[in-house]
Amino acid sequence: MDLSNPKVITCKAAVVWKEGERLKMEEIRVDPPKSNEVRIKMLFASLCHTDILCSKGFSIPLFPRVLGHEGVGMIESVGENVTNVKEGDIVMPLYLGECKECPNCKSGRTNLCHKYPLDFSGLMLDGTSRMSINGGQQLIYHSLSCSTWSEYTVINANYAVKVDPQKIPLPHASLLCCGFTTGYGAAWREVHVEKGSTVAVLGLGAVGLGVVDGARSQGAVKIIGVDINELRRGKGEAFGMTDFINPKDCKTSISDMIKDVTGGLGVDYVFECTGIPSMLNEAIEASKLGMGTIVIIGAGNGISREFNLIPLLCGRTMKGSIYGGIRVHSDLPAILHRCANKEIQLDELITHQISFTEINQSFELLKDPHCVKVLIKF
Ligand SMILES: NC(=O)c1ccc[n+]([C@@H]2O[C@H](COP(=O)([O-])OP(=O)(O)OC[C@H]3O[C@@H](n4cnc5c(N)ncnc54)[C@H](O)[C@@H]3O)[C@@H](O)[C@H]2O)c1
Ligand SMILES: [Zn+2]
Ligand SMILES: [Zn+2]
Repeated sequence: MDLSNPKVITCKAAVVWKEGERLKMEEIRVDPPKSNEVRIKMLFASLCHTDILCSKGFSIPLFPRVLGHEGVGMIESVGENVTNVKEGDIVMPLYLGECKECPNCKSGRTNLCHKYPLDFSGLMLDGTSRMSINGGQQLIYHSLSCSTWSEYTVINANYAVKVDPQKIPLPHASLLCCGFTTGYGAAWREVHVEKGSTVAVLGLGAVGLGVVDGARSQGAVKIIGVDINELRRGKGEAFGMTDFINPKDCKTSISDMIKDVTGGLGVDYVFECTGIPSMLNEAIEASKLGMGTIVIIGAGNGISREFNLIPLLCGRTMKGSIYGGIRVHSDLPAILHRCANKEIQLDELITHQISFTEINQSFELLKDPHCVKVLIKF
């Protein structure tokens, strides 16, 4: 850290320069927070599948860029008018805010706020960046309002949620910034899975395992996990999965297998958590005729050209979800509370830990069937 100018911090950050290239550890400049912003010294971060997509240019190819949208850190400094957090607080930098005043926030029906949106621009809300390189000559794009893969990052204070480090292990706080919470919230907030429901979860990564946990705590009676990785059977069971289907072992389609274990009816809810376009038709077909609901969480290459409209027309509902419908100030504290009470087994997810300077390894590790989440320590 360069203390010659106390306002600008020079620190290490993992920069992606070009679509699909490895991250490069660079010395970057991180500007002081402007009004309503905070600068955070990162302590832990983690890798979400969406970071892999973003490193390949999803959803808009912006480079050079600092990725990462799961993490936890300490507030290093605050700009004018910041009232919700102060220097020294431990916070989760999130990719959604919640103003509680815009039409969407007031509706209580969505977590997608107009004032503090899910922002794909790679810039702060005022349209500028706080990160640069080459003596400040070259701008570096942020990622989803947070950019956690930097020793220091600047975010709008509304996107910061305080955590009590005495109650919540910091690695758990990092994981709750995206994947697991997205799945958990999808079952709890996005569609309110009812007691006695039947559920299928396609893909048992951190997101899918979160759905399993959320569906179980909502009282679902049958939770069918689907994954090509056999090792996900045990992980799913740890979170409350009742049935497991490995498509590699099956001669029929995934939807037929799901119908087989539900007396031919299909399930009330299907959560698509692989991001594979062709899975969408399977998800729709696996849900109950006339009343099934399909929740799309997996991101990726959009909808397959072979998308089959007829089963959807037959009375099913399809809904997309960002961060599981979780409102960061109204809902996230309840999940943190469950975490503090040890009601969520987040240690089950942390299979690998590396240091920040080894961050490129996390992309390789995620290909290992044993790997669910890679924790990155600063
Ligand atoms: N909408 C949101 O807010 C949001 C948030 C987080 C992640 N995501 C997206 O959700 C998806 C899942 O994220 P993750 O971090 O859990 O990913 P992950 O890579 O950890 O997990 C994906 C799982 O799907 C399984 N899988 C892959 N191909 C399969 C197939 N053909 N059939 C069955 N299972 C298969 C893998 O074995 C793996 O267990 C990604 O597309 C990610 O970008 C969306
Ligand atoms: Zn994510
Ligand atoms: Zn709002």
